Amino acid sequence: MRSLISILDFSVEELAGLIATAEDIAEHPEKYWEACRHKTLATLFFEPSTRTRLSFEAAMLELGGNVLGFSEADSSSAAKGESVSDTAKTVSNYANIIAMRHPKEGAPFVASRGATIPVINAGDGGHQHPTQTLADLLTIHREMGRLDNLTIGLCGDLKYGRTVHSLIEAMSRYENIRFVLISPKELMLPDYVRIGVLDKHSIPYTEVTSLEDAIPALDVLYMTRIQRERFDDPAEYERLKDSYVLTAEKMEHAKENMAVLHPLPRVNEISVKVDDDPRAAYFRQTLNGKYMRMALILKLLEEAKRDPVREAIDTDGWVYDQVCRNPKCICQTEQELPQAAKLVEGAYRCIYCEQKV
Ligand code: CP
Repeated sequence: MRSLISILDFSVEELAGLIATAEDIAEHPEKYWEACRHKTLATLFFEPSTRTRLSFEAAMLELGGNVLGFSEADSSSAAKGESVSDTAKTVSNYANIIAMRHPKEGAPFVASRGATIPVINAGDGGHQHPTQTLADLLTIHREMGRLDNLTIGLCGDLKYGRTVHSLIEAMSRYENIRFVLISPKELMLPDYVRIGVLDKHSIPYTEVTSLEDAIPALDVLYMTRIQRERFDDPAEYERLKDSYVLTAEKMEHAKENMAVLHPLPRVNEISVKVDDDPRAAYFRQTLNGKYMRMALILKLLEEAKRDPVREAIDTDGWVYDQVCRNPKCICQTEQELPQAAKLVEGAYRCIYCEQKV
C-alpha cells in the first residue's frame, strides 16, 4: 500500500499513466461513475482551501464514493492537542483513503506513518503540494502537447510557494527542461530544491528579478501568489506583496503559444484582463486538478486492494538525534517524533521538512 507524500513517490511512467487515466475520465466520465462505490475519502484540512479540498471531494463523488472530513483545525480534536499520527490512526477506521492539508511541514509524512490506509499530501506548509503538480502536469501536457523541451518561468514567491517546489521536482525528470526563476532576492528558491534537485541533476536554470526581461523566452509562465500566511514579519509581506503583476501589456511580449499557469488563489499578481487571453490556462488547470485527483484516488485504492500492508518507511541513511531548527517543521510541535536527518548533496537535512539541521 502506498501513499503520495512527494511527487517523487511516483515514477515518470506512473505519472504518464495518471495522465492517460485522467484524459480517459475527461472523455468518458460515465465509465467511472461506480468505480469507488462503497469507498470513502477523508479530507483532513487543517488549513484553508477551495480548489484542493473541493476538487478532491468532487473527484470522489464523481467516482461514486463517499466523503467525510473537516475543513479547519479548530473543528477537529487537534484543537485539544491530538497528534497528527493519532488523528490518522483514528480516521483509518472510518475511511479508505486520506487527503491531508496541514500548515506544518512534514505533517502528511507523519500521518502516513500512523495511518493504515493511503495518505495523500494535499499541501504541507511551504514545503510540497504534489497533487497540485498533478494538475500542473496535465495542464502543461494539454496546453503544450509535451512535457519535455520546455523553458519554464516560475515567478513570485519561490521560497514559500510549495507548488513551485513540487513542480520543479517533477519537471526535472523530463528531457531538456530549463527553468527561469523570477523572484525578489528575499523569496528565492530554498536550498533543498535549488541544490538538492536542480544542481544535483544538472538542470539548467537562471535566477532573475525582472519578469519583463524573462517573458519573451518562456514556453510556460507559472505565476504564484506571495504567501502572506508564511511570513513571520507582516511589514516584510507588505513590502514584497506587489513584486509582480502580469498584465495584458506584458503578455504582448510573450510567445504566441506560451501557457500561463497559476495554482490559484490569485490576489493581484495576474490582472483580470489577462483572463480572456487564450494563453491563460489557470481556470482550465483547476478542472484538470479534478481529473488528476480522480486518477490518483483510483490508483492508490487499486494498489491498496492488491497490497493492503503499509510499506515500511525506508530509514536507510537516517541519522538520529539531529536537531531541526525550522519553526515551521512538524517536529517542533510534535516532540515525541524521532529527530532524524539524512545526507543530501553534502548537507544533513531534516527527514520531515528537508531544511538543513
Ligand atoms: N492551488 C491550491 O492549493 O488552492 P487551494 O488553496 O484553494 O486549495
